[in-house]
Amino acid sequence: MTKKTVLSKLETLRAEINEHNYHYYVCDAPIIPDAEFDKLFRSLEALEADHPDLITEDSPTQRVGSKPEAGFSEIQHELPMLSLNNAFNEDEVEKFARRARDRLKYSEKLTYTCEPKLDGLAVSIVYKKGQFHRAATRGDGYVGENITRNIKTILSVPLQLRGQDYPKWLEVRGEVYMPKRGFLNLNAQMAKLGERQFANPRNAAAGSLRQLNPQITAERPLDIYCYSIGKISGGELPETHHAMLDCLKKWGLRVCPEIKVVSGVNACIDFYNDIAKRRDQLPYEIDGVVYKVDKIQQQEKLGFVSRAPRWAIAHKFPAQEAITEIENVEFQVGRTGAITPVARLTPIFVGGVTVSNATLHNMDEVKRKDIRIGDVVIVRRAGDVIPEVVSVIKEKRVHITKKVQLPKHCPICKSDIEKLESEAIARCTGGLVCAAQRRENIKHFASRKAMDIDGLGDKLIDQLVNDNLIHSSADLYALTADQFMSLERMGKKSTDNVLKAIEDSKLTAFNRFIYGLGIREVGEATAKHLAQHFKTLDKLMAAEQDALEAVSDVGPIVAAHLVAFFKQQHNQDIITSLVNAGLHWPKIVAQENLPLAGQTFVVTGTLAALTREEAKAKIEGLGGKVAGSVSKKTTALVAGESAGSKLLKARELGVTVHNEKWLLDLLG
Ligand code: IVH
Repeated sequence: MTKKTVLSKLETLRAEINEHNYHYYVCDAPIIPDAEFDKLFRSLEALEADHPDLITEDSPTQRVGSKPEAGFSEIQHELPMLSLNNAFNEDEVEKFARRARDRLKYSEKLTYTCEPKLDGLAVSIVYKKGQFHRAATRGDGYVGENITRNIKTILSVPLQLRGQDYPKWLEVRGEVYMPKRGFLNLNAQMAKLGERQFANPRNAAAGSLRQLNPQITAERPLDIYCYSIGKISGGELPETHHAMLDCLKKWGLRVCPEIKVVSGVNACIDFYNDIAKRRDQLPYEIDGVVYKVDKIQQQEKLGFVSRAPRWAIAHKFPAQEAITEIENVEFQVGRTGAITPVARLTPIFVGGVTVSNATLHNMDEVKRKDIRIGDVVIVRRAGDVIPEVVSVIKEKRVHITKKVQLPKHCPICKSDIEKLESEAIARCTGGLVCAAQRRENIKHFASRKAMDIDGLGDKLIDQLVNDNLIHSSADLYALTADQFMSLERMGKKSTDNVLKAIEDSKLTAFNRFIYGLGIREVGEATAKHLAQHFKTLDKLMAAEQDALEAVSDVGPIVAAHLVAFFKQQHNQDIITSLVNAGLHWPKIVAQENLPLAGQTFVVTGTLAALTREEAKAKIEGLGGKVAGSVSKKTTALVAGESAGSKLLKARELGVTVHNEKWLLDLLG
């Protein structure tokens, strides 16, 4: 090959690889299989190995340098990297908006760009003539650390911008973060290696970016969302913030897809509420949202006060971490006998509620975090997750603290507690002899994803168990109205309702029944696979290890749990009693052949011929899904008498609405 041919080949390969990186990392939508990409990458590596003199700084093979640095050099920001003022409630947001309008002498609603406030690290990245040039941390806002080599390892950061119309000098700013899943994987890996784990994704991102060896950074699952610009020259930018973000996207930079342009402060608050609701489902951590006045001209007029802009504000979520004291540690027994140490705390307001208990997970965690009774600790309550103790503030361990000891016997049934070397979790060996395990098992059986017995909540089950009215899930079906009425706070109406719900639960689906049995490691998905595979209860109960392992999602451990469960006489007895009580389900037919496969229904109002439970079971039996609320994904709403808000919502979204007759015809 002549040098010219090599050069052109190198150029083509690099351009192709950059293009695929963009589709994979920025758009989350690869256009070729991974193996094809690997082939391209290896061709480029091979060609460069033969022609080392032709390797360029911006070649995709050069993302990870090999030599660790002695320290980071400094980079002076050409425009300071400022911070944001915070608002902790709607009042403060309204004040911010009012002040902005007053200053601008603007009586209409202002337009805002609303963005999630990402919980990572602010960085500045400079592109010179479209080429990745350098990157820096925020530092003190004026001088940051040169982390060029580390940022270059983040595959979603383009080494070359797309298109042509970018400014000659473009400084973009954004947040480097570690996605939640990557954080969990990283910590699991650290635990395996016996290394210190990170307290949260933000610390993990910071620790990863501040590595002197970029090879380590390259192994960390970091990502970036860009949200503003710094200094630019040799080019123009649009007149609004959101249009500027669109430009960044067009040039191949990642911008958060949740960003929305709205009019007026009320719509900002709507954005906050919507994101707050979905916060746990987002793949990254956020600690609030940011509202930015959208028009750049208005931003310029508003300017800055001390170190924060007057045109933007961070509307923060309530703090998820707080400091309190551990007053005692007790041990709870779960459905499968798992013993969980639970810290009793001096009550503290965190994440929007008062928390007085926090899980310590297991004794390995207690040891790792060196948690003792009397310690001052950081407690975290994130969304609906059970509050947990993040860490001990060792400096505050001034008075004598007491070590936490795993008891030898179950606090409820006094059976031995066993802890296998291979497992982190200690267990009560009492099985269904243990009242705590029985109680939790019944709760699981009645729960929404199992038999879905409306009105039979945890408190009622506690009462029934405490009064010795039930000992197993099968006993639920023999309960009488008098027995319910004998309980505290149970009147005629709630008794009737709960008895009806128990009766309705007799018609179920096979997978729900399997899940409801509460077999160790058998979750909803596994139960579905088992139901589809074995189709009948007899076949499932008779299945041996090998036959069980043939089911997708079932490995040797789950199979062994299943065999052990069905072998035990008392489990067989409970299953027989349940079937004798009248529990039944539609016959299982191969999923893909089912007429309603892939369709989602919502049933609302009062149906005449069917209970809602029956309708649900029948739809599921035909391969359809039944959801609790109407969304764009709903195939149809089935509305009975006095349908209310769901009907309105369906009309609003243009979802098809049918009556009961339609459903009956459909169900045959
Ligand atoms: S704009 C002058 N937008 O929050 C305004 N910041 O508290 C500069 N942050 O240092 C920041 N998400 O690290 C902006 N969508 C977002 C953000 C965001 C997270 C961080 C950023 C900044 C800090 C200020």
